[in-house]
Amino acid sequence: IGTKVIIAYAEIVRDDPTNNIPDTIFAKLGMQLHRRNQHPLGILKNAIYDYFDTNYPDKFDKFDDLCPIVSVRQNFDEVLVPADHVSRSYNDTYYVDSQTVLRCHTSAHQAELLRNGYTHFLDTGDVYRRDSIDSTHYPVFHQMEGVGVFAPNDWEASGTDATSHAAEALKKCLEGLAQHLFGGVEMRWVDTYFPFTSPSFELEIYFQDQWMEVLGCGVTEQEILKRSGRTDNVAWAFCLGLERLAIVLFDIPDIRLFWSTDERFTSQYPPCYKDMSFWIRDSFTENSVKLLEELLETLPRRYVHVKLIDNFTNKKGMTSHCYRIAYRSMERSLMDEEINDLQWKVREQVENKLKVVLR
Ligand code: PHE
Repeated sequence: IGTKVIIAYAEIVRDDPTNNIPDTIFAKLGMQLHRRNQHPLGILKNAIYDYFDTNYPDKFDKFDDLCPIVSVRQNFDEVLVPADHVSRSYNDTYYVDSQTVLRCHTSAHQAELLRNGYTHFLDTGDVYRRDSIDSTHYPVFHQMEGVGVFAPNDWEASGTDATSHAAEALKKCLEGLAQHLFGGVEMRWVDTYFPFTSPSFELEIYFQDQWMEVLGCGVTEQEILKRSGRTDNVAWAFCLGLERLAIVLFDIPDIRLFWSTDERFTSQYPPCYKDMSFWIRDSFTENSVKLLEELLETLPRRYVHVKLIDNFTNKKGMTSHCYRIAYRSMERSLMDEEINDLQWKVREQVENKLKVVLR
C-alpha cells in the first residue's frame, strides 16, 4: 500500500490514547521536501546521488518514497535497539498508536531492504523526533541512509579481515563524499556507539571555527545480516543528516527555513555556479582564501559558498587552483547575465588583491 493510504489511515487513528503527534507535525507527513528538485534538500540529495553514480556506477538502488509511518519493530527491534532504550519513550518518539511510530531514523528500513535482497542502497526520507525547537533543531528532518554489503570474495582478495575491509571501504567512500560536497574541507573520525553497528564512527568537518558532526556510520552488526539471511556477508551502513549538510553548503541560517513556502527563500535555489581558475604564487596561503571570501562578502549579492574544486601543479612547477563560487539572490532567481557581470568584477579584484594570474 502507498504512503498516502497509510497517512490516511494514521489520520483515522488520531484519537488513539497513545497518539502523541501534534497537528503541526502530522501536517508534515507526505510533504517530502527531499523529493523537490529545486529545494535545497532535493538538490543535496541529487548531489549525493551524483557522487554514488560516478564512483559506483549502477551499484546503488535508490529509495526516497518509503512510508515514514513504521512499526515499533521496524524502527527499534530490527536494528537491535534495546527494549529499555530511552529513544523508545513517548517523550522522544512520536507514536501513532502503541505499535506504530513516525520513524525516528531511516535505519527503520535497513533490515527490510536487506531481507528483500538489496545489497547496495540509498534510502532518503523525513524522520521525526520529539525535540526542542531552535535554529538548528526541528522535530522533523531528513536523513539519507546508505548500506553496502560485501561477499567473502571482496575481502579475501584484499588480505584483511572482513570487518576491517568493510570499515576501510566505508571511510574511503564517505571521505570521498565529503570531498565531493565540500571540497578541501578538514575532517576527522570519532569513535562512537550505535546499537546496529560495530565498530561505529562519526565524521566531523571543520566549519566556522568548530568541529561539526555530519554523519554516523559503522560496520553492520552481524545479527542484522544473519536475520536477513546473509550470514556469510559483512556490510557497512551510514546515515547523513541532510539539513546539517545543507545548512553548511547553502549557508542557511535557520533549520525552520527548509519548511518555508516564501518565494524569497524558495526562489534562491538552485544557486548559480561559476568557476574561476588561477595560477598561484608562493605567497598564496590559506589567508588568501579568506581574502577571497571577504571579497565576495562585499558584493551586492551574497554568494553561498566558495569551494576549491581543483588543485594541480604542472611540469614547470606552477600550481593552479580552481574555485567554484555559488551565487544566489535574496530577491529572485539570478539571471545568468547578471552573474556573468559580477563574476568579471570578482575576477578583476581577485587578480589585484590576491596577486594571482587568472587563467
Ligand atoms: N540511525 C542512526 C541515527 O539516526 C544513524 C546511523 C545509521 C548510524 C546507520 C550508523 C549506521 O542516529
